Amino acid sequence: MKTALPIAPAKISTAPLALSDIDHVRLYVGNARQAAFFYAQAFGFQVEQHHDLTTGSRSEASYLLRQGNIRLLLTTGLHEHQPACQEVAKYGDGVKDIAFTVADATKAWEQAVSHGAHAASEPTEHSDAHGSVTTASIHTFGRCVHTFVSRRGDYSLARLKSGGLFMPGYARVKDFPLNAYNAAYPCGLECVDHLVGNVGLGAMNQWVQWYSDVLGFKLFKHFDDKDISTEYSALMSKVMDSGSGLIKIPINEPAAGRAKSQVQEYLDFTNNVPGVQHLAFRCNDALETVSELRRRGVDFLRLPDTYYDKVWDRVEGELHTEVREDHNRIKELGILVDADDEGYLLQLFTMPLQDRPTLFIEIICRRGSQSFGKGNFRALFESLEREQARRGNL
Ligand code: FE2
Repeated sequence: MKTALPIAPAKISTAPLALSDIDHVRLYVGNARQAAFFYAQAFGFQVEQHHDLTTGSRSEASYLLRQGNIRLLLTTGLHEHQPACQEVAKYGDGVKDIAFTVADATKAWEQAVSHGAHAASEPTEHSDAHGSVTTASIHTFGRCVHTFVSRRGDYSLARLKSGGLFMPGYARVKDFPLNAYNAAYPCGLECVDHLVGNVGLGAMNQWVQWYSDVLGFKLFKHFDDKDISTEYSALMSKVMDSGSGLIKIPINEPAAGRAKSQVQEYLDFTNNVPGVQHLAFRCNDALETVSELRRRGVDFLRLPDTYYDKVWDRVEGELHTEVREDHNRIKELGILVDADDEGYLLQLFTMPLQDRPTLFIEIICRRGSQSFGKGNFRALFESLEREQARRGNL
């Protein structure tokens, strides 16, 4: 008789740079109060907490929005010399900080700095009688930083996930009318799947090396301009992986083509300063999610109907992957489909969220595939070019 082997306990890393979660993603915006309404109405976020003049913040106003395990922090400066005001003037609304929860923010920051990161802000403890939150930040590409966050007492991540306060100084938003509506009509966004950094020509490899040296990320995939080019424009991309299933960060750089790369269009509207091109939110039912987002008025990139003439031959024929969602509904909702040897994925991209053609959102639903929809690149980029041309930026 065979004896069952004992199951080894799961290894929990105690390394300082073991990232336990995406603590939050902070956006600098021109008007956080109004942006909170937009993300609540368009994407179904709960507007849960605020830190502003009424709670003692004299320099910035911030709103914490939540959906699933996504925490968005919208921050606006209250005076022109505040960094949020200055950055919005230069780069428009966009992602400032991709913050990671760690066991000890001070140790994580010290290790990152010793591995070559440039400090953005030194370790600071924010505490009161209920607990403490320690934050420390490093610069990454362009305008963006990574903040390490460690939480204690009532501010622990577990408490935060079950409705606890974000950090000392924050208060719960009372009676925000869209919160009840969003609970009744959920959009189903569950977590941040990946986010993409746009960097300048020739800078991709330097940032790939940085994520490897500083944060211990590994190269997951590499797409060159042969993969991501149309007749007119091109880019190159390398995907960095945190290694724990937590997050992937593709780094894009423009490549030479007959017309302007979409990455260069982005950089033209940020004074050539790198930043986050898109945030991808994962859902578990793409049809429900996209249907609800469309009902709420979210504007998605449009692909020609001819896309659907070929997609089933490619995914189900050539790649032998059965897509179990209703094919007609997928076409009606304009969702894109791709497959690889691990399974398939459904994805769709919004138009830019603001007048500058910069940040947009991707909705992604994974059915085994851990990739990024390489089979959709050409159709997608031709659509993006049509939009660039409409904006006079091709
Ligand atoms: Fe993406």
